[in-house]
Amino acid sequence: MSNAPVSLSRFMLEEERKHKEAVGDFTIILEQIAFAAKIISREVNKAGLVNILGSTESHNVHGETQQKLDLFSNEEMIKALDPTGKVYAMASEEVDELIPVSDKSLEGKYAVVFDPLDGSSNIDVNVSIGTIFGIYKKVESQNPVDSLLQKGKELLCAGYVIYGSSTMFVYTTGNGVNGFTLDPSVGEFLLSHQDIKIPEYGKIYSINESNYDRWAKGIQEYVKFIKNHPDRQYTARWIGSLVADFHRNLLKGGVFLYTEDSKKNKNGKLRLLYEANPMSFIVEQAGGLSTNGQMRILDIKPTSLHEKTPLILGSKYEVEKYLEFREKYV
Ligand code: AHG
Ligand code: MN
Ligand code: MN
Repeated sequence: MSNAPVSLSRFMLEEERKHKEAVGDFTIILEQIAFAAKIISREVNKAGLVNILGSTESHNVHGETQQKLDLFSNEEMIKALDPTGKVYAMASEEVDELIPVSDKSLEGKYAVVFDPLDGSSNIDVNVSIGTIFGIYKKVESQNPVDSLLQKGKELLCAGYVIYGSSTMFVYTTGNGVNGFTLDPSVGEFLLSHQDIKIPEYGKIYSINESNYDRWAKGIQEYVKFIKNHPDRQYTARWIGSLVADFHRNLLKGGVFLYTEDSKKNKNGKLRLLYEANPMSFIVEQAGGLSTNGQMRILDIKPTSLHEKTPLILGSKYEVEKYLEFREKYV
């Protein structure tokens, strides 16, 4: 019995039992996110067949096969969460304003933020993409947006799903990070990566170096330092999907950077609510660090739903070095 695989559902139930006050609402939300992830995973896997199968499926009254996968994923997340009645406020990278919820959801005690499909420019070329989410407790306020504009350090839970060579669900509730791999034959996520810890330092740096000429001196000098590191030879990896670049660095160690530059991304490119905060909570729970170059990401007070932030996260050593360089070259 002890060798039986641990499903995500069983794991979540066991976690829930550790909290005497828990009534199961939170577990229902997570279960529903995992459910949406399975549906998104299925669609992502057959994305390449859409043109081949399109003529037979084009009669689908919902037109779903024609829909862009990121919009499809957005709908699946909302369809999974709203009927639970537990989610009082929701915001998504794909929706400009607050997402309207049904009347029964107004009784919910939680707020959820998500990037339904991260790395979507990679869909057409069969590269790993993902879903990112974060869950907050509702705050007492007339305005539901206030529940979504909480500091990342208030997150109760954050996670991501990677649609890679396998589909994986990785999440934390502030008590370590655990990863589950989808076994498609039974349709369940099974515990495969228990208590993930990011190495103290790594050999990978991930940054889009095409922005080099537009970086501040401190960033340029940092990258030069990493490339000519006295103790080890680093290697560069850039997939262009945060989920995939982050997941690799979490397991192997190293640093991911999407910094500010003087032209296109004056405040970075990644979004604080849907990307930076959930990943920062996860990396800290795994023993790593996350910063915007000036302060801890999780301490930033968001002021709008779609604000961007520079994001530097990964192993402790590389992130601390980044801060040293930024300070030295101000
Ligand atoms: P999204 O597909 O959700 O808009 O996010 C894309 C993001 C992120 O996943 C990735 O790290 C970054 O964009 C890549 O940006 P560049 O194309 O500038 O390298
Ligand atoms: Mn994204
Ligand atoms: Mn996206």
